[in-house]
Amino acid sequence: MKKIAVIGTGYVGLVTGTCFAETGNQVICVDIDVNKVNRMRAGEIPIYEPHLDVIFERNIKANRLSFTTNLEEGIKDAEIIFLALPTPPGEDGSADLRYILGVAEDLGKILEDYKVIVDKSTVPVGTAEKVREMIAKNSKVDFDVVSNPEFLREGYAVDDFFN
Ligand SMILES: NC(=O)c1ccc[n+]([C@@H]2O[C@H](COP(=O)([O-])OP(=O)(O)OC[C@H]3O[C@@H](n4cnc5c(N)ncnc54)[C@H](O)[C@@H]3O)[C@@H](O)[C@H]2O)c1
Repeated sequence: MKKIAVIGTGYVGLVTGTCFAETGNQVICVDIDVNKVNRMRAGEIPIYEPHLDVIFERNIKANRLSFTTNLEEGIKDAEIIFLALPTPPGEDGSADLRYILGVAEDLGKILEDYKVIVDKSTVPVGTAEKVREMIAKNSKVDFDVVSNPEFLREGYAVDDFFN
């Protein structure tokens, strides 16, 4: 069992968090969208994906899956932090890294012990180094950054996760 935080509870973050809970881990999903977090806390799933609703409900009931808008609270006990933040294409088509680097900067200020930070968003090669530098700017503790790009297909996300 690992303690996992997922930052960004959209399509990728919610599938990742829910499926990691289903495999026995303790998962907290963080999002800045207060309305979305309140709905999920009330047991309402914000997206449709085959099989996800059943797993979502089961793991909330088992206290393995919870939600917060508070980044500090979300990562406090986590050993592994997944970043599932948006990377919309900018005007020149390149991925906009502002959400990821913004959260990386915030993480640097609040890390209190060793964490593994995993980038699951779609980003160009070299982003892990940028994330590492952004965290290191403020961090007093040791950490590692890992790339684990997401390749799930909408409509098959749960199957893809488990297989
Ligand atoms: N959706 C897909 O099928 C898919 C497949 C493969 C890869 N990806 C990639 O995965 C990444 C995430 O995509 P998605 O579809 O899940 O995006 P999404 O827009 O569905 O979800 C992103 C979530 O992040 C939240 N967020 C934004 N800023 C935040 C912050 N500072 N702190 C906490 N939460 C914050 C938003 O409120 C939203 O809920 C992107 O890089 C995308 O390209 C998506």
